[in-house]
Amino acid sequence: MKHLMSPLDMSVEELDKLLDLANDIEKHPEKYAHVCEGKRLATLFYEPSTRTRLSFEAAMMNLGGKVMGFSEASSSSAAKGESVADTIRVISCYADIAAMRHPKEGAPLVASMASSIPVINAGDGGHQHPTQTLTDLLTIRSLKGRLDNLTIGLCGDLKFGRTVHSLIEALVRYTGIKFVLISPEELRVPSYIREDVLEKNHVEYEEVERLEDALPELDLLYMTRVQKERFFNEEDYVRMKDFYILDAAKMQLAGPDMLVLHPLPRVNEIAVEVDKDPRAAYFKQAQYGVYVRMALILTLLEVEVC
Ligand code: NCD
Repeated sequence: MKHLMSPLDMSVEELDKLLDLANDIEKHPEKYAHVCEGKRLATLFYEPSTRTRLSFEAAMMNLGGKVMGFSEASSSSAAKGESVADTIRVISCYADIAAMRHPKEGAPLVASMASSIPVINAGDGGHQHPTQTLTDLLTIRSLKGRLDNLTIGLCGDLKFGRTVHSLIEALVRYTGIKFVLISPEELRVPSYIREDVLEKNHVEYEEVERLEDALPELDLLYMTRVQKERFFNEEDYVRMKDFYILDAAKMQLAGPDMLVLHPLPRVNEIAVEVDKDPRAAYFKQAQYGVYVRMALILTLLEVEVC
């Protein structure tokens, strides 16, 4: 039984294979249109989501499968006090694979231990978001042609942003990666990412506060939203929320090939005027998220397509 809890659950070779499959799905969607007929995906979302839940559902539908699930804890038996372990045990009788998002770190892992079907972590608190990372890797590889030798700026809420944590863990396995971590002092990456991931793997990185200073050297800028729901008080959030705003004037400081990614949803951190810049790739990124989730479902269900 295979689950996906962290991007490190896959070796670099397995990841390459998955991204190749996603690119093949992008080129030949008709080949895959019926391969999951008779299979069901359950989406168990205890926290808000638009893209992740609907892209999982679109992915399963594109494969000819069916979907079921809930989109808020209040409409599930969690509201009555059921544990995720009990819930998944029951869902295992109804579905072939499940994607779970939960505000508590480690909840999908607990579920996977009680499950008889593959469980995918669709985001657990401020911890990990491995399928966003698969999306990011597919976007970078497809648009840049490589996953090595890149200078990558990660900007915004690096403390609570789970997409950033997963992306750093995945990218340190490639050579020639340099990170520029752009955040206010209070929203720096957690020390476990700095010490156990970056320093342990001897990855080059610097921490800066000004986006303007970092822009000229970047191959890629990964913007993130300040994670309102993880703040302990409203005042701190209000102080931090507009710390970075990428606009057309700042984009002039960047190189002609610098890609801008964002897991979305965006709040104010990217001005709408940047959307028409050819370097803005965040809406394409959302489309890649469907292909990569299709590839992931096929891989975990061990569906072979000739
Ligand atoms: C991200 C998440 O949920 O962590 N969204 C997503 O899945 N695309 C980023 C965010 O909410 O800021």
